[in-house]
Amino acid sequence: MLSSVPTRDVAENPLSEAATLRILNAFAVDVIAIPSVEDLFWYVAQNVVGQLNFVDCVIYQADQDQTELTQVAALGEKNPYGRRIINPLKIPFGQGITGQVAQTGQAIIVDDLLKDQNYIPDTQPARSEICVPLVSRGRVVGVIDSEHPDKERFGKAELEVLTTVAAMASAKIELLAEVERSKRRYQDLVKSHAQLGEEISNRKALEAKLFEARKLEAIGRLTGRFAHDFNNLLTVISGNLELLEADLGGPLSTGSLQDAQGAAARGAKLIRDMLTFSQRVRLSPEVCDLNRLVAATCASHADILSAAIDLTLAKDLCSVNIDPKVAENALLNLITNARDAMPEGGRLEIGTQNIRHCLCDNHGLATDLAPGDYVCLSVKDDGVGIPQHSLQQIFDPFYTTKAVGSGTGLGLSMIFGFMQQTGGAVAVTSDVDQGSVFRLYFPAVPSDANDLLTKTP
Ligand SMILES: Nc1ncnc2c1ncn2[C@@H]1O[C@H](COP(=O)(O)OP(=O)(O)OP(=O)(O)O)[C@@H](O)[C@H]1O
Ligand SMILES: [Mg+2]
Repeated sequence: MLSSVPTRDVAENPLSEAATLRILNAFAVDVIAIPSVEDLFWYVAQNVVGQLNFVDCVIYQADQDQTELTQVAALGEKNPYGRRIINPLKIPFGQGITGQVAQTGQAIIVDDLLKDQNYIPDTQPARSEICVPLVSRGRVVGVIDSEHPDKERFGKAELEVLTTVAAMASAKIELLAEVERSKRRYQDLVKSHAQLGEEISNRKALEAKLFEARKLEAIGRLTGRFAHDFNNLLTVISGNLELLEADLGGPLSTGSLQDAQGAAARGAKLIRDMLTFSQRVRLSPEVCDLNRLVAATCASHADILSAAIDLTLAKDLCSVNIDPKVAENALLNLITNARDAMPEGGRLEIGTQNIRHCLCDNHGLATDLAPGDYVCLSVKDDGVGIPQHSLQQIFDPFYTTKAVGSGTGLGLSMIFGFMQQTGGAVAVTSDVDQGSVFRLYFPAVPSDANDLLTKTP
């Protein structure tokens, strides 16, 4: 860095052009390392202007509102030692020569201050003055001012030198301001990032709590309903066994035996549905024609529905590799639900279709479904529909809205587990008072396997 040197009179000891250039070049290099605006102002006043043979220099800084200048660095009378300024003046924009330069953004040279009414004397009255603005991003941020005790001491050369110093200082001020803005932006970013992280962890904690609450609710419902239904079945079985014991060989035996067997069968179905839901049932899949399975199921259970069934079965339907008995049970569960949703009767449509599923099409799916070819079995009713809040729960085991004794809440749960185990999925769409559509997506058996199936005698 340039060192502080005693001042010299411009006229008495003029600097050569080469010396001036050397000083300005050194300033251009040194300015890179100057860390703050305050350091910059003192450096310019004491080292640069001092070395350039100006007898005096005062640097003024403008306030944020651009209304007032304050003396912030100096060399000469105002600066006895170090970074001290005697009686630092404040000058409003527009007043005096420095105030005028600040307001207009134009440099001024005054040859004879005695003839200038604008002159505001500071420590010692001077005769000539030069003042140039410091401009950053189009705003005057300060001025560099130099006075001389003699008149007519500043000309084109001094103006050029001070304007160059001011331009370099202004560029550095702009850079320091940008660094400050970047620092603030970075701090804001760090703050928002921390806030976001906190929000995410709060949200995760809430979700975990909600999940835990729903899990406990489902387990409570499961054990409660199971105990209740199983207890009813045991009551029927043990009651009938007591009757049988009392009437061994008598007329009551046949009816009681039938009731006991019925209760045992319902108990076995309850267990089977629970196992299917938990995907612990052993499936016996075979390649089969879903159209044939649907037609046979509808024909043999026509009595379930008062409404007529509209069948729309696709021609050239791909084969599926499924356990036909469990599939029939799943279809029967859907038909029974549709019947219950249409107590006054209604329209039930059952259809089959080849479907190419892509990732973006997950409308109503209860679980993810890998992209690929599927055979879709749909069951559509125009019954009461399912409210939005129940849609989240209908696949939960033992979730039922039916009266005690009318439903176990395992029909859709077993379908859910069965579809998962089969490599497919179940989907539902429903509107209250409009009806519901349940769709079962079974993986289609590739066409080569279909050919084999057709050729098999
Ligand atoms: N097609 C439908 N229309 C309206 N609501 C339906 C329909 N299908 C199912 N639901 C609702 O979903 C609930 C659960 O159905 P799910 O088949 O699992 O049990 P459930 O029919 O109540 O008893 P079950 O074990 O005898 O089948 C039903 O109680 C009902 O509220
Ligand atoms: Mg049901």
